[in-house]
Amino acid sequence: MRGLRLPLRADLAGIEPYGAPHLAVPVILNVNENPYAPAEDVVADVAAAVAAAARGANRYPDREFTALRQGLAEYLAVESGVEVPPGEIWAGNGSNEVMLHILQAFGGPGRRVLSFTPTYSMYPEYARDTLTEWVARPRGADFGLDLGAAVAAVREVGPAVVLLASPNNPTGTALTTAEVAALAAAARGAGPDGTDAVVVVDEAYGEFRRQGVASALTLRSDHPNLVVTRTMSKAFAMAGLRLGYLAADRRVVDALRVVRLPYHLSAITQAAALAALGHRETLMAQVASLRAERDALQAWLGEHGFTAVPSDANFVLFGVFPDRHRVWAQLLERGILIREVGPAGYLRVTVGTPEEIRAFRTALLEVSRD
Ligand SMILES: Cc1ncc(COP(=O)(O)O)c(C=O)c1O
Repeated sequence: MRGLRLPLRADLAGIEPYGAPHLAVPVILNVNENPYAPAEDVVADVAAAVAAAARGANRYPDREFTALRQGLAEYLAVESGVEVPPGEIWAGNGSNEVMLHILQAFGGPGRRVLSFTPTYSMYPEYARDTLTEWVARPRGADFGLDLGAAVAAVREVGPAVVLLASPNNPTGTALTTAEVAALAAAARGAGPDGTDAVVVVDEAYGEFRRQGVASALTLRSDHPNLVVTRTMSKAFAMAGLRLGYLAADRRVVDALRVVRLPYHLSAITQAAALAALGHRETLMAQVASLRAERDALQAWLGEHGFTAVPSDANFVLFGVFPDRHRVWAQLLERGILIREVGPAGYLRVTVGTPEEIRAFRTALLEVSRD
């Protein structure tokens, strides 16, 4: 091979691309997917919508994805009881992309993004890729926030963007609306040059929250600097579709429209997402059963001497192991793939089908914990 000296940015040298191991094993519980493949009627509707979109594929798609915005607004109204005008919705290829748009619009050199760790491991990557300084403050021992310290951090760090995952990945813990409201209020005037810092509540797992835990969407009318992101990848069982979205003040959405690539959402994606949204009732019923499975798994872990962090998501963080890698590897030997992620000593398991969870429990009781 001829020599090639690439002018790669120094901060990217030697960095491995993000991604969990993709291993072909019988039980895959490592990336928080919905374990149920779409039902045949969903598949048929998506296929028909994609065929119709393909007939017009010589043209660029609707840049403003008007019909999809309407469909997402209707879904949010049913799911969380909050009316969001379609113009206050933004979408992209996964919620990863909409969050990157936020950093592209509001971050950048000389600016900071603040988050509370352990949290979703892609956040520092959005910061790196937009040349925004990443500032992380620790969560408490229960993986919740010390609200006083968090509010003080917002004032002291002066971030352009605050990223809060709720329910948080990998801990599964959700923030209360009172905590989010306090942070959104503290962020007013705390951004660069006295601007209102944008507070993002990443509700990728929002639909799995336990009863009585409200969505941050309910706070929108009082906090125009609040952005709530969602995805069709988890509860909606459409990780392969790549459709994430957010609800935000119109002025935030207008800023995101500036940084997006032209026609970033393909006509195929728009059509498939809209068709899938038409089946929201079936999918929401499935979410209820996954929540029940999650609660049962959490209780079972506790009964068998593990520490299971109370979860509002479709996964449970559990431990605590002196050598978590060994436990992970022994499970893998038994055909069960979970995730070695998060605080020392813990492992994260996604809620699968009842059969998958049975296989996981059996294997976990067989492996040596120390
Ligand atoms: C907290 C959190 N946010 C966002 C995402 C990204 O989801 P997607 O880009 O598939 O919408 C994930 C995926 O695992 C996640 O865990």
